[in-house]
Amino acid sequence: MELTHLILDNNSFETKQNNFNKNTNDKKVYIETFGCQMNYSDTEIVLSVLSDFGYNETDDVKSSDVILLNTCSIRENAENKVFKRLDELKKYKKLNPNIILGVLGCMAERLRNELLIKKKMVDLIVGPDEYRKVPHLIDNLIETGEKGIAVKLSRVETYDDITPVRKKGVTAWISIMRGCDKFCTFCVVPFTRGRERSRNFKNIIDEAVRLSDEGVRDIWLLGQNVNSYRFAEKDFADLLNDVAVAVPDVRIRYTTSHPYDLSMKLLEVMAKHSNICNYIHLPIQSGSDRILKEMNRLYSVEQYMQVMKKSREMMPSVGLSTDIISCFPSETEDDHRMTLDVIREVRYDGAYTFAYSRRENTKAYYLEDIIDEETKKRRLDEIITLQRKISVEINQNLIGKIMPVLIESLSKKSDEYFMGRTDCNKSVIIPKEHSYVNDSGELTHKKSFSIGDFVNIEIIKVNSATLFGVPVL
Ligand code: SAH
Ligand code: SF4
Ligand code: F3S
Repeated sequence: MELTHLILDNNSFETKQNNFNKNTNDKKVYIETFGCQMNYSDTEIVLSVLSDFGYNETDDVKSSDVILLNTCSIRENAENKVFKRLDELKKYKKLNPNIILGVLGCMAERLRNELLIKKKMVDLIVGPDEYRKVPHLIDNLIETGEKGIAVKLSRVETYDDITPVRKKGVTAWISIMRGCDKFCTFCVVPFTRGRERSRNFKNIIDEAVRLSDEGVRDIWLLGQNVNSYRFAEKDFADLLNDVAVAVPDVRIRYTTSHPYDLSMKLLEVMAKHSNICNYIHLPIQSGSDRILKEMNRLYSVEQYMQVMKKSREMMPSVGLSTDIISCFPSETEDDHRMTLDVIREVRYDGAYTFAYSRRENTKAYYLEDIIDEETKKRRLDEIITLQRKISVEINQNLIGKIMPVLIESLSKKSDEYFMGRTDCNKSVIIPKEHSYVNDSGELTHKKSFSIGDFVNIEIIKVNSATLFGVPVL
């Protein structure tokens, strides 16, 4: 299906400041986010909208006035996780019947009726394009007792004028486009997120500059399919180029891109700017042309491999990762082997591998599933094991290498360590403080580091997902 791409008009909006953390805000919202980065970015928009109506965020679910779950529908287990969480949250409603419980995001869009019938404790059901209505729906609920339901998808909503409530840190997301027109036959996103639409070009650049001025050192440009970005005459390569020029001290990354419209122009822009991360996440899904056709992915394995080859030619140290769906209906042993062959040939740095999950209303829902459970498990295991082996081999070759790392946060496992990332998007664990010694082993000085620092790190140890290193002078 060919759908025209929606372009908003050329006027740039005045972006208004949000009222987050104002002392006069007397109501509290607790929000949990599931799913992709777009959902996390949307949560920041919801918090901004609510802040104009007197809400501040709280981490304490018990003392909140409103509990929101921003949900994901991509696979069955993503939805099951949310259903389980809803059941757990029931107890807070029992303790305080005035607490308002809302479901936002992709599940609200996809499962509005089921939620109404089966989850009676849910008061609000709001889809991804209706977040401006959340405060009004809450007020109406308080006044009339009526449940708040708003699930219309929009062809123009980009929340362009809303300043998201971002967590303090060096990393920030900028959502540049919404929706998806690709209609891969396995995927719910076009149904839960609606048609593609792109944000105003100038507003994105202004937002990046503002974030840089505020101390952000790492910006992700986000969209379900960033390569489809179009605003007037500008495409995604133009946008990436202009963001890189506008914020030279900021590392820029993007996700997710679809192989069909990843252009040579984009690779040239990436190769030209040292502040654009040397990293491409390009989901292949399957190594079999027959399955790719069944998936409506719009490219062949050969075309995909050309992009991989060109990327490596133009950026020799580029980090490459992918998404793979194992056991799409009718996948044969040969199709599966072709996927393993692609993994061996590309030698990805990493891969996100998923067991196919059958989603209602998608085209693939109606295909007969002929693969038995044991085969499903084996094929997925084979993919994961092969990729892990390749990731370890690639990472082992980095031992002894020195690379610049941007420190992003505290390590999840220990307060004594930071987590940072290399230019090709690998996570590195480094000590918060380092003692330098000279060639005779004598202590020369100590240095401590901070989140936001770029530090040269020597890699000393690796596993398949993480590097470990020490600072060098
Ligand atoms: N827009 C991106 C992908 C977004 S969804 C793209 O097209 O590349 C993230 C990943 O979830 C997909 O790449 C796919 O690998 C996986 N996925 C989507 N639907 C799925 C399903 N029904 N079953 C299993 N995995 C799925
Ligand atoms: Fe889903 Fe395909 Fe769109 Fe990606 S490109 S979000 S997999 S429909
Ligand atoms: Fe999930 Fe919706 Fe993102 S289905 S992956 S939260 S677009």
